[in-house]
Amino acid sequence: MKVLVIGSGGREHALCTAIKKSPKVTELFCAPGNAGIAKIATTVKISAMDFEALADFAKDNAIDLTVVGPDDPLVGGIVDVFERRGLRVFGPRANAAILEGSKAFSKDLMKKYGIPTAEYETFDNAEDALKYLETAELPIVLKADGLALGKGVLICNTLKEAKDGVKEIMLDKKFGSAGNRLVIEEFMTGREVSVLSFVDGKTIKTMSSAQDHKRAKDNDEGLNTGGMGNFSPSPFYTEEVDKFCKENIYQKTVDAMRAEGREFKGVIFFGLMLTPKGPKVLEFNARFGDPEAQVVLTRMKSDVVDVIEACIDGKLADTPVEFGDDAAVCVILASDGYPLEYKKGFEIKGLENFDGKEDYYCFHAGTKFDEKGRIVTNGGRVLGVTAVGATLKEARAKAYEATKWVDFENKYMRTDIGKAIDEA
Ligand code: AMP
Ligand code: GLY
Repeated sequence: MKVLVIGSGGREHALCTAIKKSPKVTELFCAPGNAGIAKIATTVKISAMDFEALADFAKDNAIDLTVVGPDDPLVGGIVDVFERRGLRVFGPRANAAILEGSKAFSKDLMKKYGIPTAEYETFDNAEDALKYLETAELPIVLKADGLALGKGVLICNTLKEAKDGVKEIMLDKKFGSAGNRLVIEEFMTGREVSVLSFVDGKTIKTMSSAQDHKRAKDNDEGLNTGGMGNFSPSPFYTEEVDKFCKENIYQKTVDAMRAEGREFKGVIFFGLMLTPKGPKVLEFNARFGDPEAQVVLTRMKSDVVDVIEACIDGKLADTPVEFGDDAAVCVILASDGYPLEYKKGFEIKGLENFDGKEDYYCFHAGTKFDEKGRIVTNGGRVLGVTAVGATLKEARAKAYEATKWVDFENKYMRTDIGKAIDEA
């Protein structure tokens, strides 16, 4: 079977690694991929947003299955294009990817179907939003409606901050057209947990839980990033929490999408907050998380290709989705300065230290080959050093040990990934 993965980050490296393990897969391609992915797949120089060129490639090369990693192509309708061309593809169509593509849509869906989430109001113009803020309780959360590279959420502690935020999003269009509409939301407190799931339109099966670390600096200080590291499973995701979410969130979301004529096939990522009043949905993503995929897929025992095919064919109910009772930790090695300005192009040394080491993975995110064929840094998040261990503590110790095996100029990481494990 010939498989094509679309995307170029650590998530796609983890996806390629998991897919490659399937005995069914004879050839693996990734567009556009990165320097790490190039070691296990044939990389193809086509942008993840060039849907027709990707479909041409899939047709010309008789690709049996395409798996889409990132949000932008999914929300942009890549699955619709592939299906129209008669190609087999895994991911939600545009009308279902809206679950991630529009926060206003997802909030309205949750309200209509009684799925627990923060109270909110939606605004189409800045004037009404500013007026609403005058009487709103602080802190308050502003969310640009559309995709904003994970940066469209502002938590505001003062009225001035909130008003400035409305202006930045709706008037200055800091996040472009993503800010044409704004969701203003109640501030919630609690621990955050990510739960990814496979969905075949009707049936949903969750993967093992994970906890992300979104802030750039230790102790959750600094700016929000795409994620600086994480661990799986989350010890805070107890059986009781799981039971509540199964009854009140997961199946309800899948049924709601179907009832709306937006059947969802693919991966739903539930961003949950375990509030004092019970678990509530922070956000939905319509794809694997990055770096959640790195810690979850490394622990998956079932053949991911079998599960993906079952989702496409509507047969997930009969297909096991199993995870090990081990644990994994991923520490992101970033370019110092991320998520703002940082330099690129530094040679990465020591990558060979991971060769042949069971339980250790060095997933590439922002890397490329330079003109001399050396692997160099090419992004804010550079590598996702991941280790699997019998326990979370063991996995954390192994992951941090492995961060010493690689080096590049301006290497930066958080030193407290998984610190919360000690509080469990
Ligand atoms: P999102 O992109 O919606 O996940 O938001 C990014 C981050 O902002 C989340 O991971 C939370 O840490 C935080 N956040 C979002 N919504 C809320 C909320 N209603 N209350 C508190 N924190 C929030
Ligand atoms: N790690 C969070 C995300 O993928 O959106």
